[in-house]
Amino acid sequence: MSSRIQEFRQQFTVPFAYPVVFTRGVFDAANVVLRDEIARPEPARRHRVAVFLDSGVAEAWPGLAARIEAYAAAHAGSVALVHPPRVVPGGEAIKADLGGIRDVMHEIARWGLCRHSYVVAVGGGAVLDAVGFCASLVHRGLRMIRVPTTVLAQNDAGVGVKTGIDTDGGKNTAGTFAPPFAVLNDLDFLATLSDLDWIGGAAEAFKVAILKDRAFFHWLRANAAAIPARDPGVMERLVVECARLHLDHIRTGGDPFESGAARPLDFGHWAAHQLEVMTGYRVRHGQAVAAGIALDSCYARALGWLDAAELESILAALESAGLPLWYPEFDLRGGDGSLVLLDGLRKFREHLGGELCVAFPDGIGSRREVGAIDTALVETCLGLLRGRHAARAASARPEPTSRRR
Ligand SMILES: NC(=O)c1ccc[n+]([C@@H]2O[C@H](COP(=O)([O-])OP(=O)(O)OC[C@H]3O[C@@H](n4cnc5c(N)ncnc54)[C@H](O)[C@@H]3O)[C@@H](O)[C@H]2O)c1
Ligand SMILES: [Zn+2]
Repeated sequence: MSSRIQEFRQQFTVPFAYPVVFTRGVFDAANVVLRDEIARPEPARRHRVAVFLDSGVAEAWPGLAARIEAYAAAHAGSVALVHPPRVVPGGEAIKADLGGIRDVMHEIARWGLCRHSYVVAVGGGAVLDAVGFCASLVHRGLRMIRVPTTVLAQNDAGVGVKTGIDTDGGKNTAGTFAPPFAVLNDLDFLATLSDLDWIGGAAEAFKVAILKDRAFFHWLRANAAAIPARDPGVMERLVVECARLHLDHIRTGGDPFESGAARPLDFGHWAAHQLEVMTGYRVRHGQAVAAGIALDSCYARALGWLDAAELESILAALESAGLPLWYPEFDLRGGDGSLVLLDGLRKFREHLGGELCVAFPDGIGSRREVGAIDTALVETCLGLLRGRHAARAASARPEPTSRRR
């Protein structure tokens, strides 16, 4: 006898669609991209809009809040700003402050926003993650327009379908899958980034290129030195291509809400996340990803999946992009003598749901996944990177005067 007295099989699909628009001067009254997106569903109506502004952006762009108010006034037929733009703390701090998260949710509710209203978040990946998290919860989800302002947010964090906050000392331990209403990437914002944030975001471009697009990798390698030189044309092309590859992956990868075990684009990330934690976030995400890519590329070489020339071209390109490949923390060992870095594999496995699945390049431009990592081989790979770092440091040191002649 069946225990199922009655069973209904419920199944439906919900299509998701959102534009990712590259633009300049998104808050100039003459630029109607934002106005048009807000008006898209009901052109004849005025829409309630709340704006949250990253404090780092507000500082770098004095007068931006006033420009946003002027924008709303110029497009008052479509845009009803419910409150002057609210400045929120930029950077990782906002994601770990549950009190601040609650304040944002209260404000969204207090300002009378409904499910047809808009939350516009202007800022780096951290602010987009935190404000997006709030907007996805209040009234079970408002229309979220992201205006990413960093390289990493424009080419990765801001174009996808996830939000996240940091709880209990962990990173992205809570979050939602919440595709945005629109993403407006204003390339002008990149000019005021610190060198660290400008260069760091480029690591995600190397990541997708090495796994998915050989031609893009060759272009990155040829233009790597222009990255630390702050060539805006090179950076803009890098950001657009990298965003396109991330969007392709989400759209065609077959698992946009990550229900399977694989996280194919997390190449280099098991070590990167652990390095960020081990350094108390002193090493920023992009820089950590670059070092993680270097380590996992050495591992792919050890497996025979990259040849020596391919490995060298990856390491040299990252170095000329201004991305260090070695940190002393790689050598830290715990009480049992094992490398603290390797704890990153355990955390990665837990995050994936119990089974390890790590992507490595299989030739530049394609990838293969493995379910187990040989930790002795990781130690060998670390030795290679340590040696390379020492050799570079020695060649950069001036020779003693007696030997210079
Ligand atoms: N949701 C996702 O899918 C996803 C994907 C990748 C990363 N992330 C998250 O993104 C975050 C990292 O994002 P990030 O690299 O953009 O860093 P960030 O958000 O921490 O910003 C870095 C710093 O730059 C400042 N800033 C932002 N824009 C600026 C500008 N135009 N000029 C001057 N300063 C500016 C910020 O105030 C901050 O101090 C992490 O929390 C990470 O977990 C999310
Ligand atoms: Zn990343």
